[in-house]
Amino acid sequence: MGVKRDLYYAKWLCRKRSIEGYSKIYFETNEELDKLFEKVDFTDKSVLSVLSSSDQLFKLKSHNIKNIDTFDKNKFTYYYFYIRMWTIKYMKELYPTALIYNDYDWIQLLLLSVKPETIEEKDALFFWQSLLNKKANFSRMFIVDPEKGLDFSRDIEMNNLPSTINYSKLNLFKKQKFEKLYDIAVISNILEWSIGDSRFLKIISSNLTDLLKENGIVLCSKVTYNNNINGVNIKSALSDNFELCDNDNLGYVYIKR
Ligand SMILES: C[S@@+](CC[C@H](N)C(=O)[O-])C[C@H]1O[C@@H](n2cnc3c(N)ncnc32)[C@H](O)[C@@H]1O
Repeated sequence: MGVKRDLYYAKWLCRKRSIEGYSKIYFETNEELDKLFEKVDFTDKSVLSVLSSSDQLFKLKSHNIKNIDTFDKNKFTYYYFYIRMWTIKYMKELYPTALIYNDYDWIQLLLLSVKPETIEEKDALFFWQSLLNKKANFSRMFIVDPEKGLDFSRDIEMNNLPSTINYSKLNLFKKQKFEKLYDIAVISNILEWSIGDSRFLKIISSNLTDLLKENGIVLCSKVTYNNNINGVNIKSALSDNFELCDNDNLGYVYIKR
């Protein structure tokens, strides 16, 4: 049922309509992930990371992490993970650029080469193949910034691909219950997405407190190069429960009190 519902909303998005939880996906990251991730020692840690374009996940894979779970409020990031993973695995390319240009022949070639090993992978294949059968306007599913994209010159990430992921559809601006505790939360620039609304910041601070172990770390990136969003200082957004221990143009690192 889940995949059929997701497919329904994907067809909507390809016709320029969207609803909460089913929106455009970042085609690639707009963050300097290498420099950002240098700030924290991930070795043997248990990490919860935003999924987004999957670039965060692929980069984190080179850090000897014990366990990585992912979350995103946008369910389409989950399906995008699979097509990115297949693009790397079967086509030896980093990004499925054909989606941006609606290059149906290339997409068909890719999907025909996929040999699913799990039910999740099978479902993801069904999702993309169904959209392709309808000649969906894939380009409408993405936010593309032609200036960005990762430097994957080190091939370690390409050889250490996860074939499946633990994903939760979570909105950190809504109060959540967590069953697992993590050492590190990688939350991208979600604080900036609060548009400075103090209610959202309070809720995300409470969620992060609940999901982290003692002395747990929150790693946030900054894309606007500005600490103030609509008059609210994002830097001190988590100050009730966290201590800010690093802050520069790339982002913030907080430690749970
Ligand atoms: C903050 S956005 C910006 C793109 C990001 N800078 C990157 O390089 O990928 C990254 C992801 O966060 C997700 N997101 C935004 N607000 C969220 C929230 N409150 N809870 C969970 N995910 C959220 C978006 O759906 C998106 O996929």
